[in-house]
Amino acid sequence: MNLIERPRRLRRTETIRALVRETRLSPDDFVYPLFVCEGEGVRREISSMPGVFNLSIDELLKEVEAAGKVGVRSVILFGVPDKKDSAGSQAYSEDGITQRAIRAIKREVKDTLVIADNCLCEYTDHGHCGVIEAGEVLNDPSVELLARTAVAQAEAGADMIAPSSMMDGFVTAIREALDASGFEQIPIMSYAVKYASGFYGPFREAAQSAPQFGDRRGYQMDPANAREAMREAELDYEQGADMLMVKPALPYLDIIRAVRERFDVPVAAYQVSGEYAMIKAAAKLGWIDEERVALESLTSIKRAGAGIILTYYAVEMANRLS
Ligand code: PBG
Repeated sequence: MNLIERPRRLRRTETIRALVRETRLSPDDFVYPLFVCEGEGVRREISSMPGVFNLSIDELLKEVEAAGKVGVRSVILFGVPDKKDSAGSQAYSEDGITQRAIRAIKREVKDTLVIADNCLCEYTDHGHCGVIEAGEVLNDPSVELLARTAVAQAEAGADMIAPSSMMDGFVTAIREALDASGFEQIPIMSYAVKYASGFYGPFREAAQSAPQFGDRRGYQMDPANAREAMREAELDYEQGADMLMVKPALPYLDIIRAVRERFDVPVAAYQVSGEYAMIKAAAKLGWIDEERVALESLTSIKRAGAGIILTYYAVEMANRLS
């Protein structure tokens, strides 16, 4: 018999395609990143990220509520403080902008899961993710401040801590500090594999966190390295990270897949600002179909193995999926 294989049989109609579809996105997969700033009534659009804003706490509450209504029930917060200093003290001050925002959300929109990004770069005047001495980002003193920040975030009511500084040993330090303060139930989603990426450009405008000298290659990973990604993931897993994140997402699908196969904890991926901005910009020029490309990117990220996706498209996509 000379039968030819006919995979097209299962592609003939949308109904049959839906039946055999292997990867489905749901609003439950998404974490919505939000930038909170000082003031009242502030809703300042980021020029390189159309549809993304610096929000004062009152506006933030509206955004979180609206997200919840379309099924996006997890947010990750980035603080954009007015005052920055060399030690990033607003990151761990009880009345720092992020802590106030966490308290407000937990008071007003109770069932939303609030994840606190844990880093110093938005709070330091030099824009690096730790403290500096003689032009170097010091590791252990930075980790101490990050642990203090985690406790301040948990005290404000954060449901999860997401350390993103790429300092060595940050998961151990944060876990110990949380436990010592009675927060042993608060999970850690570690930015375990974070590359020194050009795709973060628009974020640095949004968070006003561009380094004032040098770059982040001394602590974030070299985009060329995959074995090293396994080592980073292993270290954070052993230190007690409850979830592992890979960032950026689309240029690193191989890494997402490898982390998924090797570690039995939830894997998250961050579709970062530059990934979002590229889609927005090409769509604005009429060069691509935005909705289609956004959906395809997010589906690819999930197909590669990320069950959780941090994305600026969270609300737009949730609308489209419902
Ligand atoms: C650092 C941090 C960054 C992002 C999330 N956390 C930026 C950086 O390392 O410069 C980038 C996210 C994005 O580009 O969307 N705290």
